[in-house]
Amino acid sequence: MTATQYLADWQPYPFNILETRLEFDLAPKGTKVRSEIRLQGDKPADLVLDGAGLQTLSLRIDGVEIAETDRIFEGERLTIPAAALPEGSFTFSAEVAIDPEANTTLEGLYLSGGMFCTQCEAEGFRHITWYPDRPDVMAPFHVTIRSEKPVLLSNGNPVRREPGLAEWHDPWPKPSYLFALVAGNLVSIDDHFTTASGAPVDLHVWVREGDQDRAGYAMEALKRSMRWDEEVYGREYDLEVFNLVAVDDFNMGAMENKGLNIFNSKLVLASADTATDLDYERIEGVIGHEYFHNWTGDRITCRDWFQLCLKEGLTVFRDQQFTSDMRSAAVKRIQDVQTLRARQFREDQGPLSHPPRPDHYQEINNFYTATVYEKGAEVIGMLKRLIGDAEYYKALDLYFTRHDGQACTIEDWIKVFEDATGRDLTQFKRWYTDAGTPELTMSESWNDGTLTLTFRQDTAPTPGQTQKPPRVIPVALGLISPNGDEALPTTVLELTETEQNFSFHHLGARPVVSLLRGFSAPVVLRREISAEAQALLLAHDTDSFTRWEAGHDLALDALIARARGEHGGRAYIDAIGALLEHGAEDPAFTALCLALPGEEEIATALSDRGQIPDPDAIHRARDGFAAEIAATHQDALARLYAEMAPNGPYQPDAEGAARRSLRLASLVLLSHLDEGDRALVLFGIAENMTERFGALGQLVAAGRARESLELFRQEFAKNRLVMDKWFMVQTHRASPETAVERAAALAARDDFDWKNPNRFRALLGGFAANHAGFHRADGAGYDFYADWLIKLDPLNPQTTARMCTAFETWRSYDAGRQEKARAALTRIAATPGLSRNTSEMVTRILA
Ligand code: ARG
Ligand code: ZN
Repeated sequence: MTATQYLADWQPYPFNILETRLEFDLAPKGTKVRSEIRLQGDKPADLVLDGAGLQTLSLRIDGVEIAETDRIFEGERLTIPAAALPEGSFTFSAEVAIDPEANTTLEGLYLSGGMFCTQCEAEGFRHITWYPDRPDVMAPFHVTIRSEKPVLLSNGNPVRREPGLAEWHDPWPKPSYLFALVAGNLVSIDDHFTTASGAPVDLHVWVREGDQDRAGYAMEALKRSMRWDEEVYGREYDLEVFNLVAVDDFNMGAMENKGLNIFNSKLVLASADTATDLDYERIEGVIGHEYFHNWTGDRITCRDWFQLCLKEGLTVFRDQQFTSDMRSAAVKRIQDVQTLRARQFREDQGPLSHPPRPDHYQEINNFYTATVYEKGAEVIGMLKRLIGDAEYYKALDLYFTRHDGQACTIEDWIKVFEDATGRDLTQFKRWYTDAGTPELTMSESWNDGTLTLTFRQDTAPTPGQTQKPPRVIPVALGLISPNGDEALPTTVLELTETEQNFSFHHLGARPVVSLLRGFSAPVVLRREISAEAQALLLAHDTDSFTRWEAGHDLALDALIARARGEHGGRAYIDAIGALLEHGAEDPAFTALCLALPGEEEIATALSDRGQIPDPDAIHRARDGFAAEIAATHQDALARLYAEMAPNGPYQPDAEGAARRSLRLASLVLLSHLDEGDRALVLFGIAENMTERFGALGQLVAAGRARESLELFRQEFAKNRLVMDKWFMVQTHRASPETAVERAAALAARDDFDWKNPNRFRALLGGFAANHAGFHRADGAGYDFYADWLIKLDPLNPQTTARMCTAFETWRSYDAGRQEKARAALTRIAATPGLSRNTSEMVTRILA
C-alpha cells in the first residue's frame, strides 16, 4: 500500500505560482483556511494538489465552484483536469476546515500549550490546505490571521495589525514547507540588528510569560549568527523583522521558516541554574543553524526531498564553522567526530544505510538522518580541504549569485564547484550517491630514510548497492619523529584509486604517522600501530584531533581487551599520567582525553573485530577500567577537580565550560573510588546546572541518588525542561540490572507526559542509551521499549519512527538477544494501523 518515491520520477510542476494568499480563522477545533493561489501555465496541464485530513468546503477556479466531476480525489491528491482550467493564468481558491486541537502529530497546524503553531517541513502544509506541497513550487505569500490571541505571527514583514487581526507579507518566493504561523499568549524580548549595508532589523524572541529571563542567551546567539554570516559568507538578512518562537511540543530541534523560526523550547531557554554548558552550546549552534538556512535553504532551496542534504549538509557545515569560531575549533572538531561515529557510522554500518542523497524513500520524514545532516556536512568539509579555503568561498559566492531564488539539486551544487575551480568532480560526487563508510587501510614500509605508505580503500555493500567503486579521499597527515618533533607538517594526499602508494624521503629516523588529521575524511581507519607510537602522538602531535584520537584508541584497545576478559590498559594509564601533569593548561582537551569511550562504542569496536559484544561484560570492563585509572591517578585527579572549581560567577562561554568539563571528567573517574562522596558534596554546593547535573549523574550511577533526586524534583517540578533531565538521568544512568524497572516506574508517574516529545525522548531515549540496560539478556528492555513505541505511534508517527533506530544494531548481538529483538520488532511491525513512518523503519531494520 505504501508507495515508494523515486528520484528518477521527478517531473517539473507545470504551473508557476504568482502569489499565494491565505486567510486563517483560528479556532482550536474548527479552524477555517481560505486560500487563493494565482497560477500560470504555458501549456494545458492537469492541476495536481496535495491535501491530507482536510474537510473541503469549497473549491473554485476564478471564483466558480468546480464541478464534482472535475475534482478527482485519490489518496492525498486532488486532480483538476486540464480541460476544466482556463488557459494562461487563473486563480484556484479553496476553503477548508481543520482541527488543530485533535492534531497530535505535531505536523501541520497544531496546538502546543494553548498556542497555535505550525511545522510544515517536509510535507506538513498539505494538512493545512490544498496546495502543490513540493519544494520546487515557490511563491510570495500574503497571510491574514484572525484570532483573539494577542500575538499573531507569520512569515515576512508585518503589513497590518488591529485587534483580532494581523496581516503578513513575505516578498521572497518560498515553497510551502517554509510557511509558518504562530498565535498565542506570548511575550517577547526585543532587540535590533543593523545589517552590513545599513538595513535595520527588529529582532524578537517569543516565549511564554515567565520564560523571558531565560531567553536572553538565545537573542545574543541570534545576533552573533547574523554578524557571522555577513563576515564569513557575505550573507545579509533580508526582511524588516526576524521572529523566533519557542514551543514546548516539537518533534525536532527547530525549523527555519522564512523570517519566523520555530524552536523546540529546549533550544531557546537557558539560565545558569537550569541549563548545562552543553545546552548553551547547542542553543547557540542551532540558532545559528536555523538562521544560516535563510540563505542555504530559504533563498536557495531544494528541488525535491531527495536533495535534502543540499540544504542540511551545507547548513550543518556552516553551523559547525560558526561554533568553531565562537568557541574552540579543536574541541568542536573532536565532538563532531564523536557524534558522527556514534550516529552516522552506526547508521551506515546497519540496515538503514543510505547515501547523503538517497534515490528512493517511502516516508521523507525518515530521512532527516545523521547521514543527510552530518555526513552531508563532512562531504563539504572534504571538498573545502581538497580545493582550499579561497576556492571554497569563491564557489560559495558563485552558488549564491547563480542560484538565488531557485530550487536546486546536488548536480547544481557540484557544477558550481566545477565551474569555480575548473576541477572535474565526477568521482567526488560518489560521496553523495553511494552509501557506506569506506574502510581505509594503511600499511607502512621503512627503508633507509624512506617511508612508503600504502593505502587501500574498501566499502562493504549496503542495502541496494553492491558495487562500491573507489572514492576521492583526502588524507591529511603529518610525521612525528621519535623525539617528538614534527618531521612533516600537515600534507593532504588525494586518494582516488583502490590502492595507492606515497613515499616520503630523506627522513632521519623512522617517524610515526599522524594519520587523518582533523579527521579529513569520514572513513574507518585500519592500521597497525604500537602503544608506544600512540603515546608519542598523544604527547607530541601538533594536530589536536589526531592527538586526542591516539589517547582514545589506547583507551578503546584497553576496553576491548578487558571486555574479553584479558588484561590491558597500562599504556593508556601511563600516557594519561603524563597528560594530567599539565592537565590544567588545556582543560577541555584533557577532559576529552579522560572521557572513556562509551559502552555502545566498545560494542561496535568488538563487532568490527568480528566478536559478539556482551553488554554486561562491557559495562563491567568500563567500570573496572575507570576505577583502575582513578586509583592510579587519584592525587592528580583530585588536584584537578579542586583546581577547576568555579573561579567566578557562571559564564556559559568556552573558557568556563572547559574548566567545568575537566572538573566533571575528574569527578567521573574519582566517583569510581569514593562511591559518590564528592558527587554528593558537589550536588549540594553547585551553583550551576552543569555541575549539579553532572554530580547527579554520578549519584544515580553509584546508586546513591534517592535524596538528591527528590530535592531536585521539588526544586524544578514546574520547569519542564529541567524535569526532562530528571527523567533522562535516571533511565540513562541506572545500573543495567535495574534500568528496565526504573524506567517502567518512571513511565507510570503522572508527570510522565508521554505525549510531549521531549519528555518521551528523555525517558525512552535515555533508556535506549543505557546500553546494558536496553540490551538486557532476557529481552525485557526491548519489550518495554517496543510497548511504548506501539503506544506512541497512533499519536505521533514521526517521533515513533525516529526512535526505532534504537534497534538498528540488533544483528550485532548474540543469538538470544537477536531473537528477542526480532520478536519486539516483529510485534511493532504487526501492529494494526501502524503509521507509514514506523512501518518503513521497522521493515528496513528487520530486512
Ligand atoms: N529543517 C529543519 C532543520 O534542519 C528540520 C525539520 C525537520 N522536520 C521534520 N519533520 N522532519 O533545522
Ligand atoms: Zn537544518
